[in-house]
Amino acid sequence: MHGALQEARHVFLQESLVKDRLSEGHRTRILEVGFGLALNFLMTSHEAKNTSTAIDYVALECNLLNADQLRKMQYANFLNEYSLGDRFYRWREQFPDDMGPGVYEFQDGTLIKLTLLVGDALRAEPEGYFDAIYLDAFSPDANPELWTVDFLKKLAGLMAPGGCLSTYSAKGAVRRALKEAGLDVIKRPGPPGKREMLVAIRRA
Ligand SMILES: C[S@@+](CC[C@H](N)C(=O)[O-])C[C@H]1O[C@@H](n2cnc3c(N)ncnc32)[C@H](O)[C@@H]1O
Repeated sequence: MHGALQEARHVFLQESLVKDRLSEGHRTRILEVGFGLALNFLMTSHEAKNTSTAIDYVALECNLLNADQLRKMQYANFLNEYSLGDRFYRWREQFPDDMGPGVYEFQDGTLIKLTLLVGDALRAEPEGYFDAIYLDAFSPDANPELWTVDFLKKLAGLMAPGGCLSTYSAKGAVRRALKEAGLDVIKRPGPPGKREMLVAIRRA
């Protein structure tokens, strides 16, 4: 669990510059591709609370886990976010396990707003522009549809000028596809145990 959190902090919070933005007090819009176990959401919410800075977090997910499955991961406890975790899991309990396609909103106080776009990310239509994108789909081999030039172009079109996309993948094919999508791509040191990762910036 510690390794997963350390990796998520490095690749997403730090390298996407979300951590810097929040510590400077800038309200931040984040788009996540693949909400999964909610680790990145809880970790980013924790940082928002620590810095008293608001986040508007939009996440794309085709298969949202149920409350028990999310609770079992214990990520909220590991982050010492017992009450946020509790509110979030209870919120999830209102809906059926098999949450159909749609837009679902969770709000926690004035700092945290989550919009879950449940359904295929290829068809999702997030509104507005984002300061950061967490590209956390499964690997390009396992989840090729979320690493195509077309999909990355769609993400690039959702980035605010100067916005930053980060991903754990350092594959040459991903680097080339991000460039083809019109972004400036930079190789960065990966988290412990991983030599490299990528960030991609939309020119201001
Ligand atoms: C690596 S996991 C994400 C982990 C997550 N970011 C976290 O913090 O726990 C990848 C996620 O992408 C989702 N996914 C895969 N293909 C998708 C698609 N076409 N549309 C939407 N979500 C997809 C999977 O269901 C899975 O939950």
